[in-house]
Amino acid sequence: MLAAYAASLSADDPLSALEVGERPEPQAQDGWVVLPVVAAGLNHHDLWSLKGVGLSTDRLPMILGCDAVAAHPELGEVVLLPVVSGTPGWADDITLDPRRSLLSELHQGTLAEKVTVPDGHWVPKPAHLSAVEGAVLSTAWLTAYRMLFRNAAVRPGDTVLVQGAGGGVATALIQLGSAAGLTVWVTARDETKRRRALDLGAAQVFGAGERLPARVDAVLESVGAATWSHSVNALRPGGTIVICGATSGDAPARAELTKIFFKQLRVVGSTMGTLDELASLARFVTTARLRPAIDSTFPLADARAALARMASGELVGKIGITP
Ligand SMILES: NC(=O)c1ccc[n+]([C@@H]2O[C@H](COP(=O)([O-])OP(=O)(O)OC[C@H]3O[C@@H](n4cnc5c(N)ncnc54)[C@H](OP(=O)(O)O)[C@@H]3O)[C@@H](O)[C@H]2O)c1
Repeated sequence: MLAAYAASLSADDPLSALEVGERPEPQAQDGWVVLPVVAAGLNHHDLWSLKGVGLSTDRLPMILGCDAVAAHPELGEVVLLPVVSGTPGWADDITLDPRRSLLSELHQGTLAEKVTVPDGHWVPKPAHLSAVEGAVLSTAWLTAYRMLFRNAAVRPGDTVLVQGAGGGVATALIQLGSAAGLTVWVTARDETKRRRALDLGAAQVFGAGERLPARVDAVLESVGAATWSHSVNALRPGGTIVICGATSGDAPARAELTKIFFKQLRVVGSTMGTLDELASLARFVTTARLRPAIDSTFPLADARAALARMASGELVGKIGITP
């Protein structure tokens, strides 16, 4: 079958590590099923994998991709949960399993014609969404849902700051947060992305690092080093930073420890979500009639162009892939 996979790893030139070509069809192990992929989506995770972050050479070749809508023979189109438990008998929150992984880390990913997943690791695709729109719920939207509604300790009427506007997680945070009655402020590095953030529901937009008119209740961080000091400064005393990523690096010039203890800030890490949260997300997207912002969609054969677009940082919303 056709697949986009990491054939090698390259920290400096991740696209040189990518191959798009034939791979063997997946075989289901006990308790897993093989499903045809209807649509997949890209995440920054796919670039990290090609760079060798979270993926080592002994696991190559590895099919990339965490997001997918797959065709289930009885249930129809389902959105896959890409989190896989690694501890036998683990019954707690799957994201807290120390041996958990995402599809494309230990098990082959979704950028292929077929994928194998643990039985039941899915929810029905919301009926009003296209397959690509449904696929992007798997990772970026699930992460944004948990950041906002479990970890940020905010409620309707509160003000949150989203660092970055165009990314998959950032656009999901803007759409979900504004639909839930939060006042969403957004920083972005260019004017086009600031305008798009307003279209997606942001109440106000700001340049990167710009001083805000007031302190916010929570900051949603996925950028890391480039925005860390701004995030700490943006919070009211007792506010919360929820961090899910560090696209610009994880070593900020200042850790801001003094401000963190003096303002009694909470810094909360957030990773993916559970099957229950994916089901809640799908219900919320349905009742609020949300449609995830899609930047562009590429056929699987053009996965290289799709990943190059993600690496360029020019995107607004998610990139879809159709096999
Ligand atoms: N913990 C988890 O479970 C989880 C889940 C999903 C993603 N993540 C992580 O979260 C991060 C975002 O993922 P994604 O898929 O949304 O990536 P993406 O679509 O490539 O988005 C990148 C985002 O980073 C911003 N950005 C990048 N470099 C920047 C810089 N130097 N200064 C300011 N902003 C910068 C961009 O802001 P502009 O709009 O201003 O360009 C954009 O919003 C990644 O690091 C990813 O690994 C973690």
